[in-house]
Amino acid sequence: MIGRLLIRLLDAQDGWARPLGDAVNRVLVAVFRPIRPIKDLLNGTWLGHPLHPAITDVPIGAFFVALVLDVAGVARGAFLAVVVAQLAFFASVVTGLADYSDADGRTRTRATVHGLLMLVGGALTAASLLLRIGNDATGGLPLILLGIGFLVIVAAAYAGGDLVFVFGNMVSRHAFRGSGTKWIRLETADGVEPDALPELVPARAKLGINMLVLVREGATIHALHDTCAHAAGSLSDGKVADGCLECPVHGARYRLRDGHVVRGPALYDQPAYEVRRGESGWEARRVG
Ligand code: FES
Repeated sequence: MIGRLLIRLLDAQDGWARPLGDAVNRVLVAVFRPIRPIKDLLNGTWLGHPLHPAITDVPIGAFFVALVLDVAGVARGAFLAVVVAQLAFFASVVTGLADYSDADGRTRTRATVHGLLMLVGGALTAASLLLRIGNDATGGLPLILLGIGFLVIVAAAYAGGDLVFVFGNMVSRHAFRGSGTKWIRLETADGVEPDALPELVPARAKLGINMLVLVREGATIHALHDTCAHAAGSLSDGKVADGCLECPVHGARYRLRDGHVVRGPALYDQPAYEVRRGESGWEARRVG
């Protein structure tokens, strides 16, 4: 099966891609850390959807259009399509780097292969664009470079698709969690009553099969799911800051009162719960 062959081929790149990815990641973290609001913009936190895959369709589609127009002998149209594709390609690279900076483990390794292939494809198509400037002919070397570049970009897109569909990168960790309105018995980790928890100190609690994080703020008990929607960090190991719970892994922040994401790289809200003291003890249920 061709899928297995491609996966074996991609897996075979791990030896060089892992150290390269780790080195690039250190640089990207240093670049993006001081400019978090810009990084949130690039991640797509404001959109509630990853921005990178929303943009990548543009260059791939425009490169394909350029190929068709070039083969059809429409030189100006092919030139314009390559220009549009190359600009959108640049935007894809920038948004992709923002996502890449938070990728860990095998996701990072596969993202390294994806990114490097994209850069090779992008260089080939850029060379094709340069050869088209002031040249009204079609076919020849610009077409060959565009064709090869396009094929490399498609291969890179395959590896990029794996990041989402195989590794679950930038996918909500709560995508398949049902809401449910039943009150369920709540058990704190050390048996401490929720209203006796130290103020503004996250504490883990069990709610049926789910782990929650509780934060007492005065008489109010805030409760969110413990698993960070971004990449499954444990929020109970995080800290409270500005009315939010901050994930210890990549620093996403969720509003304590309703789980709304206020800082990336998370894109999705965190499931929130309401807590009450019932007749037989403390209980909680999902809100919304
Ligand atoms: S796991 Fe990435 S911000 Fe929580």
